[in-house]
Formats: sequence, C-alpha cells, structure tokens
Amino acid sequence: MTNHPITQSPNHPISNLQSLLSHLRSAQRVVALTGAGVSAESGIPTFRDAQTGLWAKYDPTQLATPEAFARNPRLVWDWYEWRRALRRDTQPNAGHYALAALAKHVPHLVVITQNIDGLHQLAGSTDVIELHGNLQRNKCSRENIVIDRAAARPTADGLLACPHCGAYLRPDVVWFGEALPRDALERAFAESTQCDVFFAIGTSGVVEPAASLPRYAKRAGAFLVEINPEETPLSTIADVVLRRKSGEVLPEIVRRLESRD
Ligand code: OAD
Repeated sequence: MTNHPITQSPNHPISNLQSLLSHLRSAQRVVALTGAGVSAESGIPTFRDAQTGLWAKYDPTQLATPEAFARNPRLVWDWYEWRRALRRDTQPNAGHYALAALAKHVPHLVVITQNIDGLHQLAGSTDVIELHGNLQRNKCSRENIVIDRAAARPTADGLLACPHCGAYLRPDVVWFGEALPRDALERAFAESTQCDVFFAIGTSGVVEPAASLPRYAKRAGAFLVEINPEETPLSTIADVVLRRKSGEVLPEIVRRLESRD
C-alpha cells in the first residue's frame, strides 16, 4: 500500500488520496455536490471557464432570467432547444459512472447537482437532488406546473402553450432571480449537515445557495473533498483537494476502494 499524494495546491498541504479512502471506508453518509465541470468531459460547456464557458459567449440576463423570457420568449426558448439538442448528442462520462458505482460502496450516497442535464441519472445514480431543475422538463410559465411536451398546445408563433391556461411553456429550470425548488433545497441542506464525507466536484462554488452547502457540511463535521482542476473559494477549506478532472480521478477512487488498495 502506498501513501499516494496525487495533487498539490498552492494554499494547501499536499493532499492525499489515502486519507480520503480511509474516510470513505468508514463513512455512513456521503454527499456529492456536482457542477458543470462533471459534465465537461461529456462535451457540455461549463458556465465560467474563460474561453469555453457559456457565460463567456452569452449574456445570462438575456437568456436565463424571467425578464428575458417575458421580453423575448422565442430567443430564450430557442437557446434552451439548442442546449437540449446538445444534451441529446452527449453521454455520461467516466465521472458520472464512477459516482453511480461509488453508491454501492457506502451505506448512503446522495448526489446533489446544479446541473440540469440529467446525466447522473442516465449513468445509474438513483438518488439525485436537482437544485436547478431539469432541461428535459417544461412547465407552465404562469401556473408553475410541469407539462408534458406531448400535452402542450402549439402557438401561432411557433412556441408551446399550457393546455389549461394558454400561457407559454418554459423549461423547468431555475433562472437568475428565482427561488430554488423548496423540497430539493431543504433536503440538500439536511443531507449536507448530516454527512461524513462531502465531495464538491466540478463547481466554481460561487453560485448561492449551492455554494454554501460545502461550508455547512464542513461546519457540521464532514470531511470535505474538492475535485477540480482549478482553484476555487472552497479550496482553502477543503480537507483534500484533488486538482484533476472528475472523469479521471473518480474512477480511480472507486478502483482503489474496490481493490482495498
Ligand atoms: P461553473 O462553470 O461556474 O464552474 C465549473 C467548474 O468546473 C470550474 O471550477 C472548472 O474549473 C471545473 N471543471 C472544468 N472541467 C472539469 C473537469 N473535467 N472535472 C472537474 N472539474 C472541472 O459551473 P457551476 O459551478 O456548475 O446556474 O455553476 C453553478 C451555476 O451557475 C450553474 O448551475 C448555473 C450557472 O449560472 C443556473 O443556470 C441557475
């Protein structure tokens, strides 16, 4: 057995996979908070990466706010249709699959995701809290109820309308300025403050309230692990920082748990 230092962070002592593995072996409850970075290796752009991020190319206030939708529903709808097409052409990557596999090695594992792509579920994760909704679903923009695309009424201007009230359908995702789904948020806080190991994976850790979950977890006594090739505001409070891609390091963690290395 080797004490295998797999990364180093400028503000952090040499981190060590071995100590993570020993915490995982004794953990009862594990939380994995994921962000756009976990889907990057599937080919889905992140939000804040300087060159390739969605917000480097598009203005969120023109696309991801209720005001933008009221101003130009067609523009917003088409942008989400483009993201849906992008998502249909992608598959889960090794990181998604490894998280689904990790659930078999600990008594309780929940994935809390800020992603709206549904790739965790596609990879086999069964307990997934979606904080920002799901790209595949639509809801009535007036009544806030989920409506199947097949049940929607086409409108004269080429969009879809609610079969009950006639208001436009919109994607069932959280936009800037909107509240997160209450049940999801309450459960996310409860899971975070009760867990033994908390992973923050592929998230820049700057969008609230998700960004607070690792801090609550740490304060409640969890062992905090960050997986991200870049430094984030979480790096300085993490117990272990793995400066690698999630699609590489998560399978390695599962392999080593399985081999009892
Ligand atoms: P960001 O785009 O802010 O951050 C993505 C993070 O993933 C960055 O810190 C990258 O360094 C990291 N990353 C990139 N490739 C990676 C890889 N292969 N493995 C691991 N990490 C990698 O995305 P989020 O933190 O998810 O909200 O953004 C949070 C929210 O901001 C999103 O849910 C979205 C956005 O505005 C809404 O739309 C409401």
